[in-house]
Amino acid sequence: MPMKFAIGQRARLGIGLLLPQSGLYAGVGQSIANGLNLALAKTSGRLAGREVRLIIADDGSDAATAAANAQRLIQVEKVDVLVGAVHSDSAQGMVKVARDRAIPIIIANAGWNAATGAFCAPNLFRTSFTNWQVNWPMGKVAVDRNYRRVATITWRYTAGTEMIGAFEENFTRLGGTIVQRIQMPFPQMDFAPHLATLAAAQPDAIMAFFAGAGARQFITDYAQSPLKDVPLLGPGFLTEGVRDLPAAEGILTTLHYANALNMPANRRFRAQYSETYGRPADVYAVQGYDSGQLIAHAVEAMKGDTVNRAGLITAMETARIDSPRGSFILSKAHNPVQDIYLRQIRNGEEIVLGIAQRALADPATGCKMAK
Ligand code: PHB
Repeated sequence: MPMKFAIGQRARLGIGLLLPQSGLYAGVGQSIANGLNLALAKTSGRLAGREVRLIIADDGSDAATAAANAQRLIQVEKVDVLVGAVHSDSAQGMVKVARDRAIPIIIANAGWNAATGAFCAPNLFRTSFTNWQVNWPMGKVAVDRNYRRVATITWRYTAGTEMIGAFEENFTRLGGTIVQRIQMPFPQMDFAPHLATLAAAQPDAIMAFFAGAGARQFITDYAQSPLKDVPLLGPGFLTEGVRDLPAAEGILTTLHYANALNMPANRRFRAQYSETYGRPADVYAVQGYDSGQLIAHAVEAMKGDTVNRAGLITAMETARIDSPRGSFILSKAHNPVQDIYLRQIRNGEEIVLGIAQRALADPATGCKMAK
């Protein structure tokens, strides 16, 4: 039977990007956009014959702007797919206005647990991670290394609270003790006084989440603090793009990606990325790339018919993404089921020590679709 298209069906395909282009997370937003562009370049910027148009809204790393920007992309720009949010609180604003609009939403970074938990929805997908997923395995890593008394530090917002909370959940379950907890206002970077407070608790190790420009500053300050010889642990965001810093030496992290993964998809991706953008790819670029791959898979499967939302969603749900991180499928709650790698910076290189937790699915607490 010949395929029928609604009027305008062959028009350009609009992808709205809600990403920071300024502020503390500007670099993260840029990597995601680059990765997405690289995935679309495979088909010369067209999907199922339709030209793709990217419309970027800069959230300035300010979560308060997310809802209005998402609304504009949907109502004024009339995008077919919405990709975005680096900051967990921006994701909340975006989901609030976009969840009931039926257009597919793909979270390309923000780890806010409830997006694929209590707030899960048929049209809401994530290609990145949950805050729980990348930090829970570190609880066991710490205990296995005989770190029994750990102090934690992060920014006081959804991502910081959820990431450190997941570590603490597993670590204390296995007998560890949290000897000090510090949460600083986001995006404050005045670390020195807090590092002195942590040192006073005489911990065996420190667990920290900071990212973007904040991670760089934290690592630099840590190496000059009384904690400098105390092992530093964190999710891998802590060491993204800081291998050039001598202060990063020895930091132990867990993450759903590692630069050094020796798989054809990763080697190919990293070579193309650095050739195109003149700098090495990072985990955020991978997430943007996989968002592009997920969109491409679904739009091609539907032969360009994005008006058929149910068909588009089914195609996304059943996708297997050949990611640079290793191939993955989505859980019933629409979050990647993925290996969490254990990595360490040694001699200025990020080394993969092994897999901290294989094929880890987020528990998707409160998601009715997951049942
Ligand atoms: C978040 O706010 O969810 C977030 C931001 C930056 C990261 C990771 C998570 O690197």
